[in-house]
Amino acid sequence: MKRDEVLELLRDASPLRHEELRRRADARRRDGLGDVVHLRGLLEVSNHCRRDCAYCGIFRGNREVKRYRLEDADIRQGARLAQARGYGTVVLQAGEDPGLTRERVAGWIRWIKENTPLAVTLSLGEREDEELAAWREAGADRYLLRFETSDQELYHRIHPDLPGRRSDRFLLLKKLRGMGYEIGSGVMTGVPGQSLASLADDLLLFRELDLDMIGVGPWLPHPATRLPHSQPLDRDQAPQGNVLALKTIALARILCPQANIPATTALATRDPREGRASGLLHGANVLMPNLTPAERRSSYDIYPDKAVLGDRRDGDEESLPAWLVSQGRSVGTGPGGRRRG
Ligand code: 5AD
Repeated sequence: MKRDEVLELLRDASPLRHEELRRRADARRRDGLGDVVHLRGLLEVSNHCRRDCAYCGIFRGNREVKRYRLEDADIRQGARLAQARGYGTVVLQAGEDPGLTRERVAGWIRWIKENTPLAVTLSLGEREDEELAAWREAGADRYLLRFETSDQELYHRIHPDLPGRRSDRFLLLKKLRGMGYEIGSGVMTGVPGQSLASLADDLLLFRELDLDMIGVGPWLPHPATRLPHSQPLDRDQAPQGNVLALKTIALARILCPQANIPATTALATRDPREGRASGLLHGANVLMPNLTPAERRSSYDIYPDKAVLGDRRDGDEESLPAWLVSQGRSVGTGPGGRRRG
């Protein structure tokens, strides 16, 4: 698929063409990966963050956020729970928190690897090379770091650099790959100032980077963030909402047939009834049930009213396998790493 075609499909507003695209992505997913859906248990280990991103609710300057950092015992319990529920992977995600020291995180990884069969995915932001290397050494398997947008002007505007350090997530992804991690990246859709043309570039980059995992969700305005909550009237502005996010997921599947792609929490938040199912119908093959201790979940407030798979409101955990079967899918077993060849 060429850039022209990608962009043309992103711009096309016809529901018929959308449905055609969806079917094509769904067929790709089925031919390449079958009906299996992998479950990754998500532990939001800390909501401390040293950055001031304009799109995110837990940015450093937000005084309203009740900050927390999970204890070692919470991590162990979360990993045990993931194992007991039959998930193959635990994802440790956090704000960019210097309080999560190299040793502390390495200790968690070692414990999980010694005591469970789980794959470990990290999503801890932009960290030092030696931290990333130490965590890989400790046994971490995968790293998630969305590049958010390939439009560098927009990226640096909404994701301010730390003093004296230019943020370069592409370079970091390359390093992570060199260390032997499976790498994941992705973008938000509908960020004010994001053009559909840049989104087409994002999609081609997914393929060029040969990503093992791709996460895409709609940008959801958080009341405390400084980005405008409505859209500029630019002709090529990427619109808010799930339709564009779903088309982007479908295109990602077509461009990267073997990547692991989740039906993201942002999709479910924007559309609690149908969001996850639509993701799975647009090429996604992964779900990420939330394992964060209940009293902390609402503090991991990257956007308002976050859906929590595992909560009543979003379909509780016990009914998940049956629900997947009702969708014509089945629950994956084992770590569910990226398939190659
Ligand atoms: N709406 C949607 N997605 C968001 N993220 C952060 N804030 C928001 C928001 N308000 C996404 C970013 C980040 C990932 C963990 O969550 O893409 O990389």
